[in-house]
Amino acid sequence: MAEPVNVNEFQVLARQALPKMYYNYYTGGAEDQHTLRENVEAFRRITIRPRILVDVSRIDMSTAILGYKTSAPIMIAPTAMHKLAHPEGEVATARAAAASDVIMGLSYMSTCTVEEVTSSCNAVRFFQIYVYKRRDITAFMVQRAERNGFKAIILTADTPRLGRREADIKNKMVAPQLKNFEGLISTEYVSDDGSNIEAFAAVTFDASLCWKDIAWLKSITNLPILIKGVLTSEDAIKAVEVGVAGIIVSNHGARQLDYAPATISVLEEVVHAIQDKVPVFFDGGVRRGTDIFKVLALGAKAVLIGRAVVYGLAAKGEHGVKQVIEMLKNELELTMTLSGCCTINDITRSHVKTDKEICC
Ligand code: FNR
Repeated sequence: MAEPVNVNEFQVLARQALPKMYYNYYTGGAEDQHTLRENVEAFRRITIRPRILVDVSRIDMSTAILGYKTSAPIMIAPTAMHKLAHPEGEVATARAAAASDVIMGLSYMSTCTVEEVTSSCNAVRFFQIYVYKRRDITAFMVQRAERNGFKAIILTADTPRLGRREADIKNKMVAPQLKNFEGLISTEYVSDDGSNIEAFAAVTFDASLCWKDIAWLKSITNLPILIKGVLTSEDAIKAVEVGVAGIIVSNHGARQLDYAPATISVLEEVVHAIQDKVPVFFDGGVRRGTDIFKVLALGAKAVLIGRAVVYGLAAKGEHGVKQVIEMLKNELELTMTLSGCCTINDITRSHVKTDKEICC
C-alpha cells in the first residue's frame, strides 16, 4: 500500500502487520459493537458552520492542559500493552508524543515500565490507573509514577469488570506478564475458557470502588486526578464535588458497556453540568481533525486518541505514531483555517450544528 494519507489507511496497515488475535483486541468493542460504530458515526451527524473572510494566515493550535503547554489539544489515550503492536512498545509511543509535543497517557497495563518510559523521553506524562483489590499494589504504582515525574493520575472509573469483548473470547486472548507488576502480581492469567484478560480483570480489579474512594486516592498522592469514563451530568457533578482536577468523557472506546451513548452525543450535557469548574476532556471515535474541531466546539479542552495511535504504532513504530499525530494536527489546522478560527479559543459552539438542531 502507498503511504497512508489518513488514520483509516493506517488501520489497514495495522491489520496487515498484526496477528489476528492482537488486531481484533485493538479494534474490537463490546458485544454487538453498537457503541463502537456509533462513536464514529455520531461525528458524521454533526456539521461544521464555517465563517468566511477571516484573516486565517496564521493558525495557532497550541494550548495548555492542566497548566502544561502542548502543541495541540491532543493527548495520547492510555491503551494497554503496546508491545503487542510493536516491539518497542510504549517507549516508542512516548518518544513520538515528545517529538510532536503532546501529552503521553500511559496505561496501568503497559508493557514497558514506568521507569523505561520516563527515561526514554521528555514528554509530559500522565499515568492511568485501575484500582486493584490489592490496594497496596495500586498505591505503589501511583507513588512510583509520581516519583518518576508523571504529572497527573487518570483514574479509569468505567471498569469494575471488563466488558464482554467477543473477539477476545473467541481468540482466547492472553495478556503477557506486565513488567510493572513483576514480583507483585502475575498478569499472565491462563485459563482455557474465553478471554484470559477478562478473567484476569475479574479476579484483580476492585469492583467495590466508589465515589468515597477518591478521598483514599487523594490521600496517597499529591498529583491532580482526572476521572475517566464520565457519560452523564449526574456523574460529572459528583466528580466536581469529590474534587477531581478534570474529567474525561469516555466510554472506553466502546469496549465496556455496549449501548452506552456515543461520547460525542453526551459531551455537551457534561460540559453544561460542569460549568467550567474543571476542564472537560474527551475520547472516543476521533479519526479526523474535523472530529477534534467538533469536540472543541462542543466544549472540551482536548481529545485523547486511542486506536489511531495504536494503528500508527503497529504499522510503523515510533515514526507511525508521530505520523498519526501530525496527520491529525494538520487536519485540525486545515479545519480551523477553512472555518475561520485562528486559535483554539476561537472555536465556539456556533461553529457546529448537531443532528438535533438540523432536524428541528
Ligand atoms: C483502551 N482503553 C484503555 N483505557 C484505559 O483507561 N486503560 C487501558 O489500559 C486501556 N486500554 C485500551 C486498549 C485498547 C486496545 C483500546 C482500543 C482502548 C481506552 C482508551 O483509553 C480510550 O478511552 C479509547 O481508546 C478512545 O477511543 P478510540 O480513540 O480508540 O476510538
